[in-house]
Amino acid sequence: MLTDQFQRTISYLRLSVTDRCDFRCVYCMAEDMTFLPRKEILSLEELSEIGAAFVELGGKKIRLTGGEPLIRKDFIKLVESLGALAGLEQLAITTNGSQLSSCADKLAAAGVTSLNVSLDSLDAAKFKTITRTGDLTKVLAGIEAAQAAGIKNIRLNSVILQTYNLDDVAALIDFAIDKRIDIAFIEEMPLGEMPEANRAERWLSNETLVQELRSRYDLQDASTSKSDSGPARYQHISGTNTRIGFISPHSHNFCSTCNRIRVTVEGRLLLCLGNEHSLDLRAILRAKDYTRETLKHAIVDALAFKPERHHFYDPEHPQILRFMNATGG
Ligand code: GTP
Ligand code: 5AD
Ligand code: SF4
Repeated sequence: MLTDQFQRTISYLRLSVTDRCDFRCVYCMAEDMTFLPRKEILSLEELSEIGAAFVELGGKKIRLTGGEPLIRKDFIKLVESLGALAGLEQLAITTNGSQLSSCADKLAAAGVTSLNVSLDSLDAAKFKTITRTGDLTKVLAGIEAAQAAGIKNIRLNSVILQTYNLDDVAALIDFAIDKRIDIAFIEEMPLGEMPEANRAERWLSNETLVQELRSRYDLQDASTSKSDSGPARYQHISGTNTRIGFISPHSHNFCSTCNRIRVTVEGRLLLCLGNEHSLDLRAILRAKDYTRETLKHAIVDALAFKPERHHFYDPEHPQILRFMNATGG
C-alpha cells in the first residue's frame, strides 16, 4: 500500500490518455490550442505498463481522463488491458460523452465500472456556447447508451459559471433525478492562461449554490455513504436516487483526505493538481534497461514530494500554466 508523508493512503491513479478533445470548453481550453506531437505522448503500451505497476503497488482505482479519452485511437485496447488487472477494483473514465453511444457496450464488457460525463447545460445553444464545438444531442444519446449497457455508476459533472449556466442548474438536477444518477457541481479552477476569459467575474462559489439549492430541495448529508475520499462532498436529495456532489477546491479544501496521484499525457507523474513538481516517467519507461521494478521504485520515491495541499487561489503562489486538458483533471 502506498502512503505519503502526511499518512494519506494513495490508492487512486488518474491517467490522462490524450490532450486532444473534440470540444473546446471555455474553462478548460483556450480557443486556439496547440496539441502535443505524437512522439511526446505515452503509447498505449506505456500507459498500460504504468497502470500495471500502480496496481502491483496496491492501487485499487484507475480513472482514465484527458482531453477526451474516447477519441484516442484504439482506446478500447487500453481499457481491456487495465480491466484485466487482478487487484484493480474500479476502472473509471471521465468523458464528454460525445463518442459514448458507439462504444458504451465495449467499455462495459471490458470492465469499466464508472463514468463521469460532463454536462453543463441542457439547452442546445448554451451547450454550444460553453463547449464551443459540442453537440448536446450526441452527449444525451451517449448517456442513454451507457445506462443501457449496464454501467451502474454514472455521474454528471457540471462546471457552473455565473455568467454562463447558473440558470441551468435546476434543469440539470431534474435530468439527473429522472435518470436516477448523481450530479456534481464543480467550481472552476484557474488552470492555464486564458487572457480572453474573465475568470474572477464568472466564478461561482459552491457555498452560494448550496444555499440556493437548500431552499428548493430537501438535502441530507451523504458524504460518508459511498464517497471515497474524493473531492466531492455529497448531499442526497430526499425521495430520489440522486445525490448532488459539490467539488469546491476553493471554498472547501479537500487536500487532507487526498487519495490520488495523476500522470499527464506526456508521462509526468504529478503529485498534486495544484503544484508543478513532477517526475518524468516517460524517460524511465523509454530507458534501455527499463524494468517494472525501476518504475515502481520511482513512484514510491516520488511520493515524498506530494505536498500537503494545493495553493490555486493564493496570490503568493505562481499561477499554474498547464491547461486542464494536458493535466487530466
Ligand atoms: P471520483 O473518482 O469519483 O473521486 O471522481 P472525481 O470527481 O475525482 O473525478 P472527475 O474526473 O469527474 O473530476 C471532477 C472534478 O474534480 C474535475 O474538475 C477535476 O479537475 C477535479 N479534481 C479531481 N481530482 C482533484 C484533485 O486532486 N484536486 C483538485 N483540486 N481537483 C480535483
Ligand atoms: N476547473 C474545474 N473543472 C474543470 N474541468 C475542466 N476544466 C476545469 C477547470 N478549469 C472539468 C470538466 C470535466 C472534468 C474532467 O474536469 O468539466 O468534467
Ligand atoms: Fe474537452 Fe473535457 Fe476540456 Fe471540455 S472539459 S474541452 S470536454 S477535455
